[in-house]
Amino acid sequence: MSPRSAPPAPTEPPRPFVERRHAPVGPTALSVDMHIHTNFSDAPKCTLDAITERCRESGVGVAVCDHNEIRGAMGLIERDEILCVPALEVGSREKLEFLAYFDDPAKLERFYSREVEPYKRARFFTKLDRSFTHLIPAAKEAGALVCLPHPFGPSYKNVNHGRERKAALFDPHMFRHVDLIEVINGHMRDHRNFKAYMLSEVFEKNVTAGSDAHLPKDIGTIYLRFDRAMDRKGVYDLLHFPIKVGMTTTYRFSNFARTAAGVIPKHLQLFVSRKRQREWVMKYNGGEV
Ligand SMILES: [Fe+2]
Repeated sequence: MSPRSAPPAPTEPPRPFVERRHAPVGPTALSVDMHIHTNFSDAPKCTLDAITERCRESGVGVAVCDHNEIRGAMGLIERDEILCVPALEVGSREKLEFLAYFDDPAKLERFYSREVEPYKRARFFTKLDRSFTHLIPAAKEAGALVCLPHPFGPSYKNVNHGRERKAALFDPHMFRHVDLIEVINGHMRDHRNFKAYMLSEVFEKNVTAGSDAHLPKDIGTIYLRFDRAMDRKGVYDLLHFPIKVGMTTTYRFSNFARTAAGVIPKHLQLFVSRKRQREWVMKYNGGEV
């Protein structure tokens, strides 16, 4: 056999994909759905009990990315029953949405209290009174990994929405702050997700995936899968590396309609109800839910 075709003799045992840099803290999971909502934003059926039950059933962890809200994420972290990555979905004045993932719930709380809560708008879940040109660098400063979810979604959920907004987002000084592209989102048709994947390739960004569940049954249908059980800090650390994504479902209009039937009344309720508006902008009370 020529030396060229001979495989190199192994000199040391294969190294794990990423070395563990800390002892596991809290619950672990082999798969994590990186984008779900709770009844603290616009997913009325996703109570903390329902999420916990669903995660226990399917063995997945979650990143709760509520719209401009952390009570759901902090509630699950405090319960400490399932893996929950500290996160939220920030919506800017221009209606650009981005996900911020943290390694530490205290950092999430600090970012929320300083940069999100004071700028909430009473009638809207998804819109803060602050520009993403401030919010994205502020999230980075606070220790977040910034992810663009559903970058080719319809209307304002699309990165191409609005000429000025697009120019500001893709300005190299701004776009360098974006760490991750969500290349599978459960509410996007395949061609939209494929374009998201292409975006990640062109800009050499790492990828993530999530169901964007607003119904308990959708939790865990789209996920990141790891080679061993991860805790929340392990997930955050792995997001710095190229990873593979998976899904167990395909886009179905009937499912989209069921989701909309829950989401739209929640948005309308907030728009018309003074009581709900007062609750929405109330001060964060240190994680009590
Ligand atoms: Fe979302």
